[in-house]
Amino acid sequence: MICNDRETLRVMVEEANKLTKHGKVADYIPALKTADRDALSIAVYEEGTCASAGDIQEKFTLQSISKVLSLALALMDNGEEEVFSRVGMEPTGDPFNSIIKLETHSPSKPLNPMINAGALSVTSMIHGGSVEERLGRLLTFIHELTGNPSISYNEEVAKSEYETADLNRALVYFMKQHGVINENSETLLELYTKQCAIEVNCEDLAKIGYVIANEGLHAESQRPVIPLHIARILKTFMVTCGMYNASGEFAIRVGIPAKSGVSGGIMASVPHRVGIGIYGPALDEKGNSVAGMQLLEVLSQRYDLSIF
Ligand code: DON
Repeated sequence: MICNDRETLRVMVEEANKLTKHGKVADYIPALKTADRDALSIAVYEEGTCASAGDIQEKFTLQSISKVLSLALALMDNGEEEVFSRVGMEPTGDPFNSIIKLETHSPSKPLNPMINAGALSVTSMIHGGSVEERLGRLLTFIHELTGNPSISYNEEVAKSEYETADLNRALVYFMKQHGVINENSETLLELYTKQCAIEVNCEDLAKIGYVIANEGLHAESQRPVIPLHIARILKTFMVTCGMYNASGEFAIRVGIPAKSGVSGGIMASVPHRVGIGIYGPALDEKGNSVAGMQLLEVLSQRYDLSIF
């Protein structure tokens, strides 16, 4: 068990930390600029125990990791047929915020739920009346998954992204023109930016990763919180699209279903074994945590975690 080997985890973090100097903190969302580039922490959750290294109390925003959770909720709300009529299942090979395939692929349906266009389409399918109600449903779901009812969203980060999200705005308007999105564009952007600004720590993330790894059963109570077929869909998208246009290389080097976010978080789910939460805000040019990916690679090798 990884959790019996805490000293190894500490040394791995110390080693991977040397890579943070090769990365860059995300700055296109102004409120993320102030993150500590050299931070690196990890929590590993398995069979009711959790091991960690680094400052795991530090909070960070989910950003794109939230796309896995909004997809779960949208699937529970609408069923597969409706969701996949408005978002595809194929990897793109393009950057996460790219617009190009929306125009070159008829009928403008985004290729998958992990790129921004697809995630915006998915978020528009979350049921509820107001933004507060829909965000509240997503938060309640996250409280259930983590057992942490204090999780909320960071208003400053949400506002900062909302005010500067012109590329995402363009994606929404484009999809609305083509009938993929049916709601008010600004309402959707408000909900999406608040969803991305939901704040967690590594331990929360490891627990969510564990539920997904554990076929949707709650980490402690073993109660079903995500239907089995949906947990499988989530893991599959994490493998094929979770690390954006680095997903293929990541599958070869690491071989673990994982999802990254531009705040530097990575959530990983080793089927039937462990959930992992990592925070390391120094990113590579594709928007993935440099030290976080290295940490997952050494962990995977040492504990034979690859699913392939
Ligand atoms: O939509 C955005 O641009 C951000 N809220 C999330 C992007 C993101 O995390 C991409 N991840 N690597």
